[in-house]
Amino acid sequence: MTVQDVGVPERLRHGIVGAGFMGQVHARAVAAAGGRLVGVAGRPEEAEQAARLLGAERGFREWSDLVASDQIDVVHVCAPNAVHAEITLAALAAGKHVICEKPLAVSVEQALDVTRAAADADRIGVVPFVYRFHPMIRQARAKIAAGEVGRLNVVHGSYLQDWLLGADDTNWRVSAATGGPSRAFADIGSHWCDLLEFVTGSRIAAVSARLATVNGERGAAAVDTEDVAVVQFETEAGVIGSTVISQVSAGRKNRLSLEISGAESTLAFDQENPELLWEGRRAGSLLHVRDPQTLYPEAARYALVPAGHAQGYQDCFNALVRDTTAAINGTVEDGLPRFTDGLRAVRMADAVLTSARERTWVPVEN
Ligand SMILES: NC(=O)c1ccc[n+]([C@@H]2O[C@H](COP(=O)([O-])OP(=O)(O)OC[C@H]3O[C@@H](n4cnc5c(N)ncnc54)[C@H](O)[C@@H]3O)[C@@H](O)[C@H]2O)c1
Repeated sequence: MTVQDVGVPERLRHGIVGAGFMGQVHARAVAAAGGRLVGVAGRPEEAEQAARLLGAERGFREWSDLVASDQIDVVHVCAPNAVHAEITLAALAAGKHVICEKPLAVSVEQALDVTRAAADADRIGVVPFVYRFHPMIRQARAKIAAGEVGRLNVVHGSYLQDWLLGADDTNWRVSAATGGPSRAFADIGSHWCDLLEFVTGSRIAAVSARLATVNGERGAAAVDTEDVAVVQFETEAGVIGSTVISQVSAGRKNRLSLEISGAESTLAFDQENPELLWEGRRAGSLLHVRDPQTLYPEAARYALVPAGHAQGYQDCFNALVRDTTAAINGTVEDGLPRFTDGLRAVRMADAVLTSARERTWVPVEN
C-alpha cells in the first residue's frame, strides 16, 4: 500500500515568529508532526541565524512578511508576550491558523479581540497549555471522569521555579512593558490553573490572591511584576483549593505539582516526574507507571513508546502540533487547548491582579 492509497494529507506549511527557547521547541514539534518549516522570523538581524538554528527553509527579517506569505498555512507566535496579539491578529487577517504561546495577550480586551478574530475568520487558534499532553495527566482526567476519585474534597498544588532567584537574574518577562502586568502567575500559574480545570472538569469561580516581588530591582532594571503569587480559590462546584506560584524557589526547576483529593482517593502528579501518577488510598496506595498497556485509551493515545522508555516535555509539544494538524484537517481532537482557553487564562490573571490590589475575593469571568 502506498501513502497515496491511505490518503496522507498534504504537509502543512509552518512559520515561526520568535527563535528562542519556544521557537526551537515548536520547530522540533513541527518536524515530528510531519510539517514543513517554511520560515522563521525573530529580530531582524537574526533572520539567517534563526533559520539555521531552527532548520527552517528561510529566515524573514520582518515577522509581518512571514505572516503575509502565501507559502505558509500555520503561524506559531513564540515572541515576547506584549507582541502576541498584534502578530496573531495580522496572521488571522492573512488567513492563517495560529498557535500562539501563552499568555494569549497581555490584557483581557486584547485576548477577546484575538479570540473573536479567530472565530470570525474560521481559523484554528491554539494556546500551548502543553502539560495537558502528558499521558499521566490524561490518565488522571480519565480516572476522575470515570468516578474513581469520587466527589472532590480539596485541590491544591504549586508551580515552582528558581531561574529568577538571584538579584541580577533578569529577562524580558520581568518588565510589564514586554511581559505583561502579571509575570509569575500569567507565565506559569496559568498552566497550573488550566491543568486543574482540564483534569477535574471543574472551573475556578473566584480567587483571593497575594503577590510578592522579592527582587524590586534586577541588575539595572526596575521590576514591576510579581515573583510569587499565592492564590486561594473556590470552584463552580464549591470545592476549595490553593496554589503557590514562584520563580524564586531555590532548587525547584519546573516543578508543577497538582494534587486532587476526592471521597475515594487522591491523585498526585509532578511535572518533573511525568511518567508517574500517585493514587493515594486509605488502604493500599498505588504508584502508576506510564504503561500504554494499562492506561485508559484516551491516555494510551499519548504514550508513544513502551513503559520504561521515558517520555517528556518535548513529546507534549509534538502531540500538541500533531493534534493541531488534525484539527486543521477537520478531525476534532479532545483536549486541544484553544484560544478560548487562552482567554480564560488571561481573565484568571486579571482576577488575580485585581484581588491582590483590592485585597478581596474576585470572581473569574466566564
Ligand atoms: N507553553 C510553554 O510551556 C512555554 C514555555 C516557555 C515560554 N513560553 C512562551 O513562549 C514565548 C517565548 O518565550 P521564550 O522563553 O521562547 O523567550 P525567548 O526570550 O527565549 O525567545 C523570544 C524570541 O522572540 C524573538 N523576539 C524578540 N523580540 C521580538 C519582537 N519584538 N518581535 C518578534 N520577535 C521577537 C527573538 O527571536 C527571541 O529569541 C513567551 O510568550 C512565553 O510565555 C511558553
